[in-house]
Amino acid sequence: MAGNSTLTSVELFTGAGGLALGIAASGFEHRLLLEYNKHACATLRENRAAFGVNCQIYEGDVASFDFTLFAGVDLLAAGAPCQPFSIGGKHKAHSDERNLFPQVFRAQREIRPKAVIVENVKGLLRESLSNFVEFIELQLAHPTVLPADPRDPEGWEAHLPTLRAARDGGDRSPFRYVVKKTLLNSANFGVPQRRERVFFVAIRADIDGDWTPPRPTHSEAALRVAMDATADYWTSTASSEGAIQSSKPRQVAAGSG
Ligand SMILES: C[S@@+](CC[C@H](N)C(=O)[O-])C[C@H]1O[C@@H](n2cnc3c(N)ncnc32)[C@H](O)[C@@H]1O
Repeated sequence: MAGNSTLTSVELFTGAGGLALGIAASGFEHRLLLEYNKHACATLRENRAAFGVNCQIYEGDVASFDFTLFAGVDLLAAGAPCQPFSIGGKHKAHSDERNLFPQVFRAQREIRPKAVIVENVKGLLRESLSNFVEFIELQLAHPTVLPADPRDPEGWEAHLPTLRAARDGGDRSPFRYVVKKTLLNSANFGVPQRRERVFFVAIRADIDGDWTPPRPTHSEAALRVAMDATADYWTSTASSEGAIQSSKPRQVAAGSG
């Protein structure tokens, strides 16, 4: 992207574009939004203007996409399908054919972006999946350390010792990433919904940059203080760090119907 100061991104599993909107709001121009659900794609096309003028909306299976076409894009984002990992699902996790993490890793290898964001449900953090989460972190960190069959969703376990050796100094490739993960709750950022998601953020090791998780702007404790202790919640429109932004109750004019 030499000579071009616009940050660009590719997103997999875009759905109707929730994460994609947030990334666009952060200043990125999407180059590609990939999704195979036709209704979600219709929504993306309807809102094309929100994603950037040069954005291609690809309706199709991730497995058949050649990501080398987007090599050099700054950011790869992926809200990988969460049914294999969610508490409500059948818990087949990594052996579920909807485990599309191998496709995320392939996209990372083919694009070689400066940063990768992978988002998934909180259920991924349960104890029984801890080795799988370690595998995700290590595979993001060492993209060129390949399993025997990179497309096999079940090959991860056999590959984990190799990745651990890579972490301990066995990866000589300059193409490596620093990976952090964090659990965020949308309600702590002013969204009127409790939605907990785990985020993996990988920054390419040659990039002079770091990432720290955002600090919550809203909290239940702050809401209680504003409602019960100061009563600001009921009277104030002011907001402050850690407080809930509220609006004055609507006045109803006497005598109006
Ligand atoms: C968890 S949702 C993504 C939600 C999205 N990130 C958002 O912010 O709304 C996963 C998406 O992956 C899509 N998907 C599942 N398998 C796919 C495949 N093989 N190729 C492309 N898209 C796929 C689903 O249709 C679904 O919209």
